[in-house]
Amino acid sequence: MRIIVGAVLAAFVLVLAAAQSDLEWWKTTTLYQVYPRSFRDTDADGTGDLLGIVVKLDYFVSLGVGGLLLAPVFKSPMKDLGYDISDFEKIDYTFGNEDDFDTLVMECHTRDLKLVLDFVPNHSSDEHRWFEKSIERKNPYTDYYIWQDPKSLNETAEPIPPNNWLSVYGGSAWEFNEERGQFYLHQFHVGQPDLNYSNPLVIEEMKNILRYWLDKGVDGFRLVNVPHLMEDQNFLDEPFSNDSQFSPDEWGSLSHIYTKDLDELYSIIYGFRDVIDEKQAELGRLLMVEAQASLENTMKYYGQEDRTGAHFPINLNLITHFKNGTTAKDLKEIIDMWQSAMPTSAWPNWMIGSNDRPRVASRFGRDFSTAVVIMSQLLPGTAITYYGEEIDMEDTWISWKNTVDPLGCDAGPENYTEFSRDPSRTPFQWSDAEFAGFSSPESRKPWLPINENYKEVNLAAQKDDPNSPYAIFKALTAMRKNMNAVQTGHLETFTVGEKIFVFTRYLQNSNEKNVMVVVNLDQDDVTADLSRVPTLKSGGMITYHIGVNSSYTSGQDLSPYSVHIPARGSLVFLYTSAANSAALAPMLLTISVILRLL
Ligand code: GLC
Repeated sequence: MRIIVGAVLAAFVLVLAAAQSDLEWWKTTTLYQVYPRSFRDTDADGTGDLLGIVVKLDYFVSLGVGGLLLAPVFKSPMKDLGYDISDFEKIDYTFGNEDDFDTLVMECHTRDLKLVLDFVPNHSSDEHRWFEKSIERKNPYTDYYIWQDPKSLNETAEPIPPNNWLSVYGGSAWEFNEERGQFYLHQFHVGQPDLNYSNPLVIEEMKNILRYWLDKGVDGFRLVNVPHLMEDQNFLDEPFSNDSQFSPDEWGSLSHIYTKDLDELYSIIYGFRDVIDEKQAELGRLLMVEAQASLENTMKYYGQEDRTGAHFPINLNLITHFKNGTTAKDLKEIIDMWQSAMPTSAWPNWMIGSNDRPRVASRFGRDFSTAVVIMSQLLPGTAITYYGEEIDMEDTWISWKNTVDPLGCDAGPENYTEFSRDPSRTPFQWSDAEFAGFSSPESRKPWLPINENYKEVNLAAQKDDPNSPYAIFKALTAMRKNMNAVQTGHLETFTVGEKIFVFTRYLQNSNEKNVMVVVNLDQDDVTADLSRVPTLKSGGMITYHIGVNSSYTSGQDLSPYSVHIPARGSLVFLYTSAANSAALAPMLLTISVILRLL
């Protein structure tokens, strides 16, 4: 008799926990962005490497993330820390060699982890052999880059750039090359000449590079800087933006009608998607794009009419629009706007930090960063996390002397802190040991200083603390893996007053648990009546699961009529909706009958 009861209970638990297994891998997990220079250094040179990632692979498994996204590890003179690539098919010695890369792929797959690479299609390094041959006008490379004659010569006989186009990094986007006697275009750093996408040979080269890495077994790509792929071929001046916050040599001072978001660029992305799908599509390879563009243009990357595009463009709205001081209504709008702009059946995603932005703990403060993590992990779609978010790492102050990011260096000692991205790229804080466990004690000094807070903020200190950011992160990845409501449930968003933002993830006509996340944006505790949240209308109880600063204990049932939400807190509840309770009733009856028979 006991065995029968056990079996019935086990089946019941399974109904609550089991999640669909036929979804693509990126729909049931979290993607973890590794910045390889800063993850783990195994050869004591002060810079992280591929084998450093290999030795830490079990960490990702225990954290519950399912895939890694690697910032570029390709051969590079490192003028833009690897985003300036001089050989797209070689590994830079800083990170190791080709064998290390193969080891990484194999060891990832042994653990059922996926490996996704950053791919930089817009430009190469000025030290790439294509560029060197292009300077010499050696075919087929002559038109691999965007070359233009000078407009004229100035009074001291110096060549004047063909037009007023500006680089994202500031100053003219044109650089004169004496040898070729022409200007080349660089929409980013001067060491990053733009590839010419109106040349079909360039497109084919880049597709072949994608094929090369796919053959090596990688599971996908993130294409960066894609809005800049195409330029108008008339090379006319761009109009002024009339935005007074920008000086005349800053990129924002122009309106980029000829260099960004050109209609022709989307079909190139759709062509890249064909490459992803052409081989072993059943393996589920992922194509993401990073596009800083209007919402309308961003949505075009999903595909248009009969063309399929990226699986998703990365959603940066929780980085660019959500700030301290955002009201609950505005936060709801930030989330709803992505959801309603997506094409039918498109897959959403959320990202809260990257190698180009201040860390979430520094933007919001450490009292609220885990609340933001909770939101990003439980909203519908793929969650992408930036290394260190799981232990609440903060930006690190870097002196002018230690600054390496070209954006900081170019700004000079007075202004570098306004532009440098170094603060969010410092080594991962593994422990309170020397160099935070990033390098061995006898190693060379790490390439960027370790944050002074590493004695308190580190993985080892959080591992066994059930209330740590790390423990909460683990609980969230488990929910993504195990709960259908998190993987595919509907989203509804609500506000209670100015400062309480609520969202639910629920399944229709299902016996399974739904999820409700309640976020308090205020500096004060609030007691809220959540009973009017539509899917709760039955008046049933809610069960506290996890959260930040909570006065409830996990598993505690409470009435939604009066819920205490601590200042800057975020609470996650599980509940069964009205219809669901009805559906569960016969099963509960069976259990109680059997228990009575015992
Ligand atoms: C991407 C990278 C950024 C780099 C830029 C230029 O946006 O994230 O760090 O500077 O590309 O290639």
